[in-house]
Amino acid sequence: MSRDTTLSTDYASGALSKDTPEERERLRLLQEWGDPDTRTALEAVGLGPDWRCLEIGAGAGSVARWIADRCPDGFVTAVDIDTRYLGDTERAHLEWRTGDIRALDFAPGTFDLVHSRLTFCHLPEREELLARAVRWLKPGGWLVLGDVMCVPSDFSAHAPIRRFFGALEAGWTAQGSDMTRWATTVPARLARAGLRDIDVLSRINLLGDQGPYGALAAANIRQEGAYLVGAGLLTPAEVDEVTDLCADPGFTDIRSITVYTWGRKPLDPKEGP
Ligand SMILES: C[S@@+](CC[C@H](N)C(=O)[O-])C[C@H]1O[C@@H](n2cnc3c(N)ncnc32)[C@H](O)[C@@H]1O
Repeated sequence: MSRDTTLSTDYASGALSKDTPEERERLRLLQEWGDPDTRTALEAVGLGPDWRCLEIGAGAGSVARWIADRCPDGFVTAVDIDTRYLGDTERAHLEWRTGDIRALDFAPGTFDLVHSRLTFCHLPEREELLARAVRWLKPGGWLVLGDVMCVPSDFSAHAPIRRFFGALEAGWTAQGSDMTRWATTVPARLARAGLRDIDVLSRINLLGDQGPYGALAAANIRQEGAYLVGAGLLTPAEVDEVTDLCADPGFTDIRSITVYTWGRKPLDPKEGP
């Protein structure tokens, strides 16, 4: 099989495109796995009932809905480039906006909270977006970002895992995603942007896990595997090998570390940013 096929360079048409029939279910599994930790991170910043909030890359919308419930006298704007799985907002103070966050802008000092999960890591303009998100915060407002650091594929002791995730890493790089270096650099980047009271929450995600992460990983492998086979980077047999391995109750391997980071814009402008 030829291995020189080029991959998509855009999230919306890549492995996690919403045109993929399984994407709705994958986003649901992502929420099931990620929401408990995201809520812990958001509770750590102490949401106020009247906060004005921005959710970037809303996905299937559970976090935006939850924030809206916690801020009944505030307002939540949830942006996604593709809002087809968001459904009805069901809340007068929650709006879905379809748009590319790279092309949207808000007045400086608009939000008490800007939150985004697993979206900055996919955008090549992530550094610039971080600076813009800090500008959009009110003094005293919080930026909360959740991203993953995938363990480099060659760290694995298992050849099928090295092959599959090696191909995927090439796909992520071609698409402009950074799934290895970005997440662990976010705390330092927030500090450099002048945010204060920075803290993190992290979780190690295991392939072979029998809980929500295992279910999400299986869905990711199905979807990314089909994409990599279509791109000529893997054979169906190589994808099956990884699927079978991850379903084996005797198998485990560290796949990634989720890093949730939060920081507060100083109330006194002399403190920066
Ligand atoms: C991996 S999903 C995460 C979804 C959600 N944040 C979650 O964790 O459940 C990434 C989301 O970012 C959205 N997205 C990707 N590029 C975007 C862009 N340029 N502007 C706005 N949203 C974008 C995708 O459509 C997708 O819903």
